[in-house]
Amino acid sequence: MCGIVGYTGYRQAYGIVIDGLKKLEYRGYDSAGVALHKGEHVDVYKKTGKVVNLEEFVYGQDLQSTTGIGHTRWATHGEPSDRNAHPHYSNSGRIAMIHNGIIENYASLKSELINKGYHFKSDTDTEVLVNFIEEIQLQNECPLEEAIRIALKRVVGAYVILVLEAGHPDRIIAARKGSPLVIGIGKNEHFLGSDASPMLAYTKEVVYINDYELAIITPDELILKNLGNERITPYIQKLDLELSAIEKGGYDHFMLKEIFEQPDTIYDSMRGRLDLQAKQIILSGIEKYAHEISNTNRIVIVACGTSWHAGLIAEYIIEELCRINVEVEYASEFRYRNPVIQPGDVILAISQSGETADTLVALENAKKQGAIILGVVNVVGSSIARLSDAGAYTHAGPEIGVASTKAFTAQLTVLNLIALKIAALKGTISGERFLQLSEELHKVPEKVQWILDTQIEKIQQIAKKYKDARDFLFLGRGYNFPVALEGALKLKEISYIHAEGYPAAEMKHGPIALVDENLPVVFVATKDAYHEKIVSNIQEIKARKGKIISVVTRGDAVSESLSDDYMEIPEADEIIAPLISVVPLQLLSYYIGVELGLDVDKPRNLAKSVTVE
Ligand code: F6R
Repeated sequence: MCGIVGYTGYRQAYGIVIDGLKKLEYRGYDSAGVALHKGEHVDVYKKTGKVVNLEEFVYGQDLQSTTGIGHTRWATHGEPSDRNAHPHYSNSGRIAMIHNGIIENYASLKSELINKGYHFKSDTDTEVLVNFIEEIQLQNECPLEEAIRIALKRVVGAYVILVLEAGHPDRIIAARKGSPLVIGIGKNEHFLGSDASPMLAYTKEVVYINDYELAIITPDELILKNLGNERITPYIQKLDLELSAIEKGGYDHFMLKEIFEQPDTIYDSMRGRLDLQAKQIILSGIEKYAHEISNTNRIVIVACGTSWHAGLIAEYIIEELCRINVEVEYASEFRYRNPVIQPGDVILAISQSGETADTLVALENAKKQGAIILGVVNVVGSSIARLSDAGAYTHAGPEIGVASTKAFTAQLTVLNLIALKIAALKGTISGERFLQLSEELHKVPEKVQWILDTQIEKIQQIAKKYKDARDFLFLGRGYNFPVALEGALKLKEISYIHAEGYPAAEMKHGPIALVDENLPVVFVATKDAYHEKIVSNIQEIKARKGKIISVVTRGDAVSESLSDDYMEIPEADEIIAPLISVVPLQLLSYYIGVELGLDVDKPRNLAKSVTVE
C-alpha cells in the first residue's frame, strides 16, 4: 500500500520518479507527490488523485534536479486531499519525507510535539514522524541519519521512509520496517522503489532492504546500517524480470492482459517441476522440509482475499490427497487470536505480493512458536518469501491489475503440485491417480486457452445483459465453492456491484430469500461428483424466477437448458477444475466493469499490496 520511488544520480530525477510512480500506482492512487532537491532547499509538489493530476499540476514549473523522491498514496490517516498527500515537510521546511506504512503511536508523538510548539498542516502520521525526526535532530544537534535512527527506535508501527534534507543535495536516507524497499544499483546512480518495477529499465542489480535497516544513498555510494549504527554489506541480487512483463502489451487493461497470460503463467508455474516421464514433482524449495511437511499432523493455511480463496481450494485438495488435517485462516483474525500452534505444525502462507501485513505478522508469530513456515508467493525476494523456511514461487510474473487473476491460477497450480508431492511421499495416492492428476495439470494451459479462444463474445454479451443488476449471487459446491467466492469478490472489486458467494446447498438456509426475477445467480456447475446436486439447486432458483448464469462443462445439455445464459469450459478432473472454471468468472467481472465505464485496473478504494493491517 502506497508506492514510493527515489532517484539520485546524473539524470533528471523528475521523469524517472514520475514514471516509477505510474508503475507503482497499483499500490494506491488517492494522491501523488514528488520532492526534488534543489541544493539549499527541497521543493515539494503534490496533488489529490492519480499521477496524471500531479503531472498536469506541475506543468511548466522548474523541475530540474538530479535527486528526487515520489509517493503515490493509499490513504490511512486523513482523507485523500492535497494537504494529506506526501511528501510532507518538517516545520522548518528543511526535511521532506515520504512514507509507506502506519505509525501506530503517532497520536502520543503528536501531542508531545504540539506541546513543544510544533504545528501540523495535515492529518497524517507521516507529518508527525518527519517533525519528530526534526525535533530529535535539533535537541541532539546531530546529523539527520542519527536523528532518524533515534526516532525509529521510538516508533511503533510499520514504515518505509525516504527522506531529503536541505543542504545535502544528492543524498536520500531510507529506512524500513514491515514495508518493502528495493534499491537498484546503477553506475553513478541509485534507484529506490516499493518494488523493482521503477528501476527495471535502468538496472537489473538490486538490494532488498531488510527490517530495521537504514540506507544512506548518494549517486556513488550505498551505505547500509542497522539501527545500532553497524555497517551491513549490501547483498546484491540479479533481477530475473523483463520490462515487457510490466507493460500492457497492446491490451486495453492490465487485468485483461493478465487474464490472457494465464495459459503461459500456469505453464510457467509448473515448468521444470512436473516431470511426467519420471512421474515425479520437483520442488527444490521444499525438499529440505519435505519430510517434516509430509509427517505433520496439521497444516494451517494463512492468507487474505483471493489468496485465501486459493487456500480454501488447497484445503480440499490436501485433505483429499494427503489425508492431513488442514485449517484455513484469515491472516487478520489468526494474528490476533491466540491460536494453538505446536512445534511441527506447518503454516502455509499464500500471498501474491509477499508483503501483506496481516499475513506477514501471522507468520512471524507462528514462527516464534516453532511452526514450519511454507510460502507460496509470487514476488521474488518479498518479505513473506524471505521469512519462509521452505516454499515455492508461483512464477506468474508481475501482476499489475489490482484485482488478482493470474496470480490466483498460479497459486492453485503450485498448491496442486505441493499436494501431489506430499501425497506421493506419504503414499496416500496411488501411482495411477498421481499420473492422472499430473497429466490433467499439464493440460490446463490448453484448456484455459480454449476458453479465451471461444467464449469471449458470449461473455461480453452476458456482461452487457446483466451490467445493471444491483446484486449477484455466486453459488458452487465442493471444489467450486471457493471459485464462487472468488467470482463474487472479482465482481465486487471491478464493478462495485454487490455480490455474495455461497455454498450452493447452504443457499436454502437464508440467501434464497433474496431471489426474485431481478437477481442474477451465477452457478459454477461443472461436471463433478456434485453435479446432480447442483442441478437441483439450479432448479430451486429457477422455480423462484432468479436469472441463471452458469459455468458449465462443454456439452452439458442439462445445465445449459436450465440456464438463461451459460459459459462453457472444457472437461476437467474436479480437483483441477477450479483452475479452469474461475477464468469465465474473471472475464465476466472484467467485461461488466468495462461496460460500466469503470477503471478496472485501479478500482476505487483498493490497493494491490496491503502493507497496513
Ligand atoms: C483480490 C485481491 C486481494 C488480494 C489480497 C491478498 O483481487 O487481489 O484480495 O488477494 O489482498 O494479497 P496477497 O496475495 O498479495 O497477500
